[in-house]
Amino acid sequence: MTKKTFICVVGARPNLMKMAPIIHAMKKQSDKLNVLLVHTGQHYDYMMSEIFFRELELDKPDYFLGIGSGKHGEQTARIMIAFEEILEKETCDGVVVAGDVNSTIACSLVAVKMHIPVTHVESGLRSFDSGMPEEINRILTDRISSVLFVTEKSGRENLLREGVSEDKIFMVGNTMIDSLERFLSLSKQQPLPLDGKIESGNYILVTLHRPSNVDDKIVFLPLMKMLAEFSSQLPIVFPVHPRTKEKITEYCPEYLSEDYPDFHLIEPTGYLSFLNLMSSAKLVLTDSGGIQEETSVLNVPCLTLRENTERPVTIEVGTNELIGIDPVNIKPAVQAILQGKLKRGERPPMWDGKSAERIVKILMDIG
Ligand code: UD1
Repeated sequence: MTKKTFICVVGARPNLMKMAPIIHAMKKQSDKLNVLLVHTGQHYDYMMSEIFFRELELDKPDYFLGIGSGKHGEQTARIMIAFEEILEKETCDGVVVAGDVNSTIACSLVAVKMHIPVTHVESGLRSFDSGMPEEINRILTDRISSVLFVTEKSGRENLLREGVSEDKIFMVGNTMIDSLERFLSLSKQQPLPLDGKIESGNYILVTLHRPSNVDDKIVFLPLMKMLAEFSSQLPIVFPVHPRTKEKITEYCPEYLSEDYPDFHLIEPTGYLSFLNLMSSAKLVLTDSGGIQEETSVLNVPCLTLRENTERPVTIEVGTNELIGIDPVNIKPAVQAILQGKLKRGERPPMWDGKSAERIVKILMDIG
C-alpha cells in the first residue's frame, strides 16, 4: 500500500491547539501516512506562536511562510502565493485546515484549484453574522472542502441546509478538547501568574480581541470601564492580545498604570498557563470562540461578550451564556455568578479527547 501524504496547515494561535492532536495521531500511523506541517506565520510573536509549539510538543514546522500581519486581502493573498509554491514542490493527497482564520481559507483555495482535496476540521459552525471575517472564511472553506469534520450537531445541520452532501460530513467531536485533555493536569502544575496577587477560584479571567469589540472606541471604552469597576470587587486577569494592546495604548492608557491595582493587564500567556488560568477562574468573560468550548468542558462559568455565537452547543449543553456587549446587561449577569447562581454545564457529545484519532482513522479509510 502506498503511503498517503497530508499537508496540515496552521497560521494563527487557535489553529495550534486544534491541529496538534491530529499531527500527533498521524505520526502514530507513520507506516501508513506522511505528514507535513506548514505554518503560515499569520501569528508570529513568540507568545502567540512558538511557545505553543513547545508546549503542545510539536516539532518545528516543515515550512514556515513568515507572512505576518496585514490587511485581509493582503494577508490572504501573501499566504496564497507562498502556499502555492509549496504545493508545486510537494506531492500530497490532501491538505488539512482548521477553524476560520485567514490562513484557513487562503490555503484551502490554493489547494482546491490545484485539484488537491481539502479537509476542514471544525466545519459547519455559523454565527450568521457576515460582518465577522471568520464567518466568510468558514462558509467559503466549507464550500470547497471534500471532507468536513464537525464538532457539534449544529455544524452538521448548517452544512446539510447549505446543500453539502451527507457523505462528506463526519461528526468527530472537538480536537481542541483533545489538547485540553492531554495537557490539563500538566497545566495545573504551573504557578498562576502574578506572583501571588491572585488566588485560585478568586479572580475573573478576561479575553477580548474581536475587531467588533476592541476597534471601536464607543464599544471598547465602556467595556474597559466596566472591567475596571469589577476589579475593585474581585481581581481581573486580562491577558491582552496584540490587537487589543494597541487599542488600549491608543484609547485608554490609564488602565496600564498603577491606578487600578487589581486590574491586571498581562502579556498573552502560553497554552499551559492559560489552561491553568481558565480552570482556576471563578468566571470567564470572553469574545473568543475556543474559550466558550474549553470553559464548557472545565465546567467554569463563561459569559460571552458577543451578540451571537457559532458554537450553540456551549449554550445548550455547556456553561456558556451569550450576554452581548452592553454593560447594562453584563453587570447583573456577573453579579449573579459571583453570588453563586451558576449554570451547570455538561460535556458536549464526543468531546472526549479522542477526536483526532477518529479524524485520522476516517482519513485513512476513505480512498
Ligand atoms: C486572528 C483570527 C481570529 C482569531 C485570532 C486569534 C482572522 C481573520 N482572524 O485574529 O479569528 O480569533 O487570530 O488570536 O484570521 N499581531 C501581533 N503579533 C502576532 C499576531 C498579530 O502583534 O503574532 C497583531 C498585529 O498588529 C496584527 C493584529 O495583531 O495586525 C491582528 O492580527 P491578525 O492575524 O490580523 O488577526 P487577529 O486579530 O489575531
